[in-house]
Amino acid sequence: MTSFLDLPPLLSAHGTVRLPGSKSISNRMLLLAALSNGVTEIRDLLHSDDTERMLDGLHTLGVAVESVGSHAYRIQGGAGNFPNKKAALFLGNAGTAFRPLTAVLALAGGEYQLSGVARMHERPIADLVDALRSLGADITYLGVEGFPPLGIRPAAIRSAGKISVRGEVSSQFLTALLMAAPLVQQDVVIEVVDELISKPYIEITLNMMAQFGMRVERNGWASFTVRAGSVYQSPGLVFVEGDASSASYFLAAGAIGGGSVRVEGVGKNSIQGDVRFTEALQAMGARIELGENWISATAPAEHGSIHGKLRGIDLDCNHIPDAAMTLAVCALFAEGTTTLRNIASWRVKETDRIHAMATELRKVGATVEEGADFIRITPPAKILHAAIDTYDDHRMAMCFSLVAFGGAGVRINDPQCVAKTFPDYFARFAEVVQPVPVIAIDGPSASGKGTVAQQVAQALGFHYLDSGALYRLLALAAQRQGIALNAEMRLAQLASEMQVRFEGADIWLNEVLVGQELRSEQTAAAASTVAALPAVRAALLDKQHAFRRAPGLVADGRDMASVVFPDAQVKIFLTASAEARAERRYKQLMGNELGLMEKEMNATIATLLQETLLKEISARDERDTQRSVAPLQQVVGASLLDTTNLTVAQAVQAVLKSYHALKP
Ligand code: DC
Repeated sequence: MTSFLDLPPLLSAHGTVRLPGSKSISNRMLLLAALSNGVTEIRDLLHSDDTERMLDGLHTLGVAVESVGSHAYRIQGGAGNFPNKKAALFLGNAGTAFRPLTAVLALAGGEYQLSGVARMHERPIADLVDALRSLGADITYLGVEGFPPLGIRPAAIRSAGKISVRGEVSSQFLTALLMAAPLVQQDVVIEVVDELISKPYIEITLNMMAQFGMRVERNGWASFTVRAGSVYQSPGLVFVEGDASSASYFLAAGAIGGGSVRVEGVGKNSIQGDVRFTEALQAMGARIELGENWISATAPAEHGSIHGKLRGIDLDCNHIPDAAMTLAVCALFAEGTTTLRNIASWRVKETDRIHAMATELRKVGATVEEGADFIRITPPAKILHAAIDTYDDHRMAMCFSLVAFGGAGVRINDPQCVAKTFPDYFARFAEVVQPVPVIAIDGPSASGKGTVAQQVAQALGFHYLDSGALYRLLALAAQRQGIALNAEMRLAQLASEMQVRFEGADIWLNEVLVGQELRSEQTAAAASTVAALPAVRAALLDKQHAFRRAPGLVADGRDMASVVFPDAQVKIFLTASAEARAERRYKQLMGNELGLMEKEMNATIATLLQETLLKEISARDERDTQRSVAPLQQVVGASLLDTTNLTVAQAVQAVLKSYHALKP
């Protein structure tokens, strides 16, 4: 079964995030530490599925890896030797573990098997295998030719002059060869035969090899030479930079949601190419600041009190393949069309990312054109609510969280896939985004919550949801169509089909204005009956969520704080004694359909009416509080507001005070 995460509509973004360690750096560092001479202590290592796979792999190979605190490891290097000469490694879907380990183990003189998840077995590896075979490596395809899983046997390794590798499919092949080259006893010259993609990742590789004392001679991007006799030397203590690709989601949030949002752990001196995502965001109009170890993003300059909008760009994204996905979602919030080019590598990543991105962007209303190596996105006039599929791709899940700024919130299916590189992504995201605020006011019938809620909404300029009216409308519609009040499935169907429009005090049902009938005691009793049916409540949920729009919502009902808006910023349980409520209802009725009769009514009848109202109210309280689904209750975190002895104005002030108390 699919699990999902519902993100509420977001109003703004503001705050600071400490980034988790970079995946690319973490996995390279683990392997280089294992290959080097001496002991390396790595701090700030990323904890994620991909780094777990590398740690598992090293463990299986007999490397001594010791955990020395949270995110810190001490690794005993083997100077190119692995204690276990025979092992089977399962590397999940971690490309940054699979490719370099293939290269290193192919030259390490042991008998190894490397496998991964099904998707890993669909990701091409022939270019790397061919290059390694030209060094004499004995590698066999255990499944489909050209793809993992792989079998490796000891072989006589010798460098036959130059080895060639293609650079067009994945830069990880070159990274793998570079990192493994010192294991060969002769000079190794690696020549890149076509256009090299994702060059910044090669810079990371070279930079880190240098950190471990390995000098690579290079001729631009065309060839690289590692001299015979080179040995990795442990630098002792090393730190992992924050992940620049992960930074992109937060920076984009700042650019879309106002900002500023600041990420800590990467800065202007970062060795990660994805920091250049900031240039793309800047080209879209965002304001970026870069410090030594931090970056911040703010939306385009303000027009009046509202921040400006991003604008579409046409960009070659070869240098930022991963962060470019974030730009595709930013395009939803930009004026005009955005074209992202030179992204063919997206097709062979965790999923076919061009196809996945196009499919999901269309769900929220965008017009998307996809080509072999580009994607073109034109945003919709209004971003729609959708359930986003994530294709077991962490970046899909993280990118699409930004859709929640579109006004309707978003549902992310299988959100746990973020564990590949950022297990607590959604919790960290929640720290820097501010949802559209909701003031939830629950309480029994005739407690005055409707009047109070409307006035609070008016005072704050917020939208107002009278959720009871939805149940009343359903009861009315059912009675008009002769549907029994216990026909759960038919009622649920009716609930999802009915068109409801609120305009000031007027309420429209299927485009027909509904009159005072909605407020009658008979309708209220029928509403209370249909409201006890779980399928009916479920069917009305989306309709209620749709009321949550900027700048905020005041919602009244029975289960606003417990079920419909459990993340409401303010939760009020508004009540009054049953007698006070019966009295208020009586006065309300006198003001409405009974108004003309009051003069003619004698005292006995008036008393009888009041008694009947008290009984009805008590019976409805009983039904609303005792039902099994979404019963009326004062949830934890809700403040009790007893209005028995309060005027409406006093009650309104009390709610406003709770709301204003939230502000820092
Ligand atoms: O608030 P009201 O009197 O208009 O509500 C009419 C009925 O609808 C009430 O008896 C119970 C039901 N209701 C509900 O179950 N959940 C809500 N959120 C609002 C109303």
